[in-house]
Amino acid sequence: MKKNYIVITGGAGFIGSNLTNYLLKKTNFNIISLDNYSTGKRKNHIKNKRVKYIIGENKNIFKLLKIYKKKIKVIYHFGEFSRIYQSFKECKKCFDYNITGSLRIIEFCILNKIKIIYSASSSNLGNQGKDENLSPYSWSKSKNVEFIKNSNKWFGLKYEILYFYNVYGRKQLTNNKMAAVIGIFENQTKKGEPLTVVYPGNQKRDFTNIDDVIVGCYLAFKKGKNSEYMLGTLKQHTVLQIARMFSKKIKFVKARPGERFGSFHMANNALKDLGYKPRIKIRDYINKFKYENNL
Ligand SMILES: NC(=O)c1ccc[n+]([C@@H]2O[C@H](COP(=O)([O-])OP(=O)(O)OC[C@H]3O[C@@H](n4cnc5c(N)ncnc54)[C@H](O)[C@@H]3O)[C@@H](O)[C@H]2O)c1
Repeated sequence: MKKNYIVITGGAGFIGSNLTNYLLKKTNFNIISLDNYSTGKRKNHIKNKRVKYIIGENKNIFKLLKIYKKKIKVIYHFGEFSRIYQSFKECKKCFDYNITGSLRIIEFCILNKIKIIYSASSSNLGNQGKDENLSPYSWSKSKNVEFIKNSNKWFGLKYEILYFYNVYGRKQLTNNKMAAVIGIFENQTKKGEPLTVVYPGNQKRDFTNIDDVIVGCYLAFKKGKNSEYMLGTLKQHTVLQIARMFSKKIKFVKARPGERFGSFHMANNALKDLGYKPRIKIRDYINKFKYENNL
């Protein structure tokens, strides 16, 4: 039977919705988004008869996708609790989504012989792997990576693991407790408020534009070799440097638990295997944002 669906868990979220758009243009597959809308009501739905939005929890995937299971080519598993700081405040929810829910997704892929493409986090790579213990979020993401890789050896699961690095750009959250730093800075800049930099501000991050990331996600589907790929830019900026690109008005806020001081990259075959070359520079993006908003 011809497999003609791509499933994206978290398909109504930031990366998932941008990827949906891209896959519609680059492939002939129909897309199913499975999302519980936990990051709020978002206007990310794309009106297209090839896209179906299913509202529900990942942990119910067996029931929700029962009728499609034989027709699914690949599952991009992006629908998880996705912020470090909030994972301390909502630890139970983080584990329910990232452990209970993700185990069911992985099991569904194993039993139905579907490839999984997993959204891993660079936050658990640093400090010779010890940074995976810095927060419930990082720990849960790193356990899923281990389980997926072991499932390949134990049960023949096909996979690609994609590490994302501080993704920003179109459709990101800007005014929400799950917003990330670029979205928060954009919102504060527009309102003329001082930018809140988490002390000490010299935390370094690799900031990657969504338009580069979705190309990497697509290439992993087309060319991935059951491997791990880092979809960063290999360039790092401190949070303070980024804030100063936006505005002179800056206010420090208290240091937070779970904070890392650098973004870590391992040996990476993203260029060799996938031909992945990120093109967009964060400085150019911020300058464009300020120009378009008369700031
Ligand atoms: N954005 C980044 O910089 C970044 C960096 C590293 C890793 N990641 C990972 O990439 C993935 C996507 O990130 P994003 O920035 O698009 O996040 P997002 O919060 O915008 O999107 C996640 C989506 O998943 C949905 N979701 C969460 N838990 C779910 C569940 N249990 N069942 C069904 N749907 C669920 C949410 O409602 C949301 O729409 C996440 O797994 C995140 O951990 C993102």
